[in-house]
Amino acid sequence: MKAVTHAEKEGWDGLGLRAVEKPEPGEGEVRIQLKTAGLNHRDLFVLNRHKANDPAVVLGSDGAGVVDAVGSGVARVAEGEEVIVNPSLNWFEKSAAPPEEFEVLGFPTDGTFAEYIILPEAQVSAKPKHLTWEEAGVLSLGALTAYRALFTRGLVSEGDNVLVPGAGSGVATFLLQFANAAGARVIMTSRSEEKRKRAVELGADVAVDSEADWNAELGSEKADVVIESVGAATFQKSLNQVKKGGTIVTFGASAGDVVEINLREFFYGQYNFLGTTMGSRDEYEEMLQFIEKHDIKPVMDEVFSLEEYEAAFKRMDEGKQMGKIALKM
Ligand SMILES: NC(=O)c1ccc[n+]([C@@H]2O[C@H](COP(=O)([O-])OP(=O)(O)OC[C@H]3O[C@@H](n4cnc5c(N)ncnc54)[C@H](OP(=O)(O)O)[C@@H]3O)[C@@H](O)[C@H]2O)c1
Repeated sequence: MKAVTHAEKEGWDGLGLRAVEKPEPGEGEVRIQLKTAGLNHRDLFVLNRHKANDPAVVLGSDGAGVVDAVGSGVARVAEGEEVIVNPSLNWFEKSAAPPEEFEVLGFPTDGTFAEYIILPEAQVSAKPKHLTWEEAGVLSLGALTAYRALFTRGLVSEGDNVLVPGAGSGVATFLLQFANAAGARVIMTSRSEEKRKRAVELGADVAVDSEADWNAELGSEKADVVIESVGAATFQKSLNQVKKGGTIVTFGASAGDVVEINLREFFYGQYNFLGTTMGSRDEYEEMLQFIEKHDIKPVMDEVFSLEEYEAAFKRMDEGKQMGKIALKM
């Protein structure tokens, strides 16, 4: 079968479309013939995390398709079922943090940028009926992360003011849709005027330039909760926009891992600073029910064929996307 893998060389040089063996499901496993998959910023990070001497890996965390074979003992899923992949491996119950064995699909375990994938049956769910194959294929990682960040960690509820920097990000578009559905008011930022316009069309109440002075742009409007995933480039401005006693939740650092905090201002402001990452299967199932109830569909950027993987990776690397980039098998 064909798969987008990373092998033999580091960085972009190791990325390629290669022929790999079609996998066979073992006990408790299912094989899915993938129809679509979705890109995440993580796929770019893996190009550097996966070393030249590591075994080759199939990239990709998000995907959807049809179960075409099942191993012995499989009870929850049957051949022919339309399913969606939950890439949060080995984390089942909602908990303060994932268990030691938690892992994200798509390195070191082979991922979804392939014609077929093998997964434990516990990692698949029925494809939401209101989504197309493209929409289902890009949903999981970003939507799960957004759901836990907003509701389990940020405790966002009706009437809250939520600030989301980096409107173009796939996760940010889910944050916008979910916060809106929960009755919150959403402020977004983006470096691109076009993306700011799009964010407002999609339901943001205000969208300001990421590179502007947010204090000046937003006046006295402060956030109950800031969901921060841009990192060092926006962190200080994000913290300045939190109401006293409010919360900043972080799960990403696209633009730098290291930030400085003025501790005195922080404790006088009685702020809460929370980390989060992905989510459990309980939260995944809650998220699927939430999007069905509110008829939420992922904001689609471009759809590429598997053969066009390089253009898809470049689009994400250059930050051109608004929403989710898909691959079609
Ligand atoms: N821990 C987890 O479980 C988890 C899960 C999902 C994602 N993440 C992380 O969350 C982040 C977003 O993921 P994604 O897949 O949604 O990424 P993405 O689609 O690549 O989006 C990144 C966005 O960040 C903004 N940005 C990047 N550099 C910036 C800079 N220097 N200044 C201002 N804004 C900047 C851009 O927004 P504009 O183009 O609008 O300016 C860009 O579109 C990544 O760091 C990813 O690794 C973590």
